[in-house]
Amino acid sequence: MTLDAPLTGRDPIACEAILANALLVLPDRVERGWIAIAGGRIAEIGEGDAVPAGATDCGGDLLAPGLVELHTDNLERHLEPRPRVDWPHAPAIIAHDAELAGGGITTVFDALRVGSIVHVSGAEKPYARGVATEIAALRREGALRIEHRLHLRAEVCSETLLEELAEFGPEDGVGLLSLMDHTPGQRQFRDMSQLRAYVMGKHGLSEEEFQAHVAGQQALRARVGERHERGAVEAARRLGAVLASHDDSDREQVALSAAHGARIAEFPTTLEAAEACRAAGIAVMMGAPNLIRGGSHSGNVAAADLAEAGLLDIVSSDYVPAALLQSAFALARIWDGDLARGFACVTEAPARAAGLADRGALRTGLRADLVRVAERGGHPLTRGVWCAGRRVA
Ligand SMILES: [Fe+2]
Repeated sequence: MTLDAPLTGRDPIACEAILANALLVLPDRVERGWIAIAGGRIAEIGEGDAVPAGATDCGGDLLAPGLVELHTDNLERHLEPRPRVDWPHAPAIIAHDAELAGGGITTVFDALRVGSIVHVSGAEKPYARGVATEIAALRREGALRIEHRLHLRAEVCSETLLEELAEFGPEDGVGLLSLMDHTPGQRQFRDMSQLRAYVMGKHGLSEEEFQAHVAGQQALRARVGERHERGAVEAARRLGAVLASHDDSDREQVALSAAHGARIAEFPTTLEAAEACRAAGIAVMMGAPNLIRGGSHSGNVAAADLAEAGLLDIVSSDYVPAALLQSAFALARIWDGDLARGFACVTEAPARAAGLADRGALRTGLRADLVRVAERGGHPLTRGVWCAGRRVA
């Protein structure tokens, strides 16, 4: 299956519908109007509050493009709902898919880590190849509601990165590959007290075990880091994937990412790094939970500060799928109520950054990926979701 094949696995759907009396979130403004769907595409867009016979009356709800999610850890949570509980994969993927659809997401790049630590018992083992195969099988069977693509998260500080990458080929439809380096003492974990809380909480380590973990990881990075970094950049080229950087912290790291050919920066950790990304033409992506909570759980730069500085291009739901839709509204509040601009960060901007030209905006001829949203008590409520014209939630 190639990247551009219909990854939902279903036949093209000759779905006909008109959604009327909606507040359309257009690329540059919000306007009352209607949308006609035909053959899975947006056939026509009109303005005004008329509700033609046979049309669905949206009652003034917002109608926005379906959301495009580039980096979600959510599948891992379904695969391992409790520490060391291995849930059957197919039902985990199906539940993850339904959760995303319910949150208005119609295209997802499922983030799967490649690069594991295999010599420590209880550490993170390889799983990406197996899960990718299972997602592809479900897609072919038409078992999934939304469109799934792959995002390989290449962990440089690991033992098995190159072997795991070698198991993927261009036929796997890997759309994104991000270069991660979670070596203690740098990037996301520059602040060791944050790392201590994260690692000790997640794996239940004692202080001595934590210190041994840090020393072991730093030695591993020194041994394999350069080779892994080069291999991952090469793999992105071989797989036809857009390259993303991860947790860049300063100008030097951004310059290196730009030299590698990165087009998206996941979660730059400082204002300096975000400014350098903008100067280098790299799209800045921040996590929705950071935006909603008012700061980063790792103590890094706040997404809201980058939005206020005009340095935020894309939002990803990261570890809370429902936060993506919330983010569109949160950004609009920062940007003087500009909902079109807020939604662009979760629709058109991620679609373009990932090389998808056929979706992400309400425009005639694009895929009919749509989400109907009402607001209740300041919180978004999805009232209908369509993926390629088919109702999926
Ligand atoms: Fe990270």
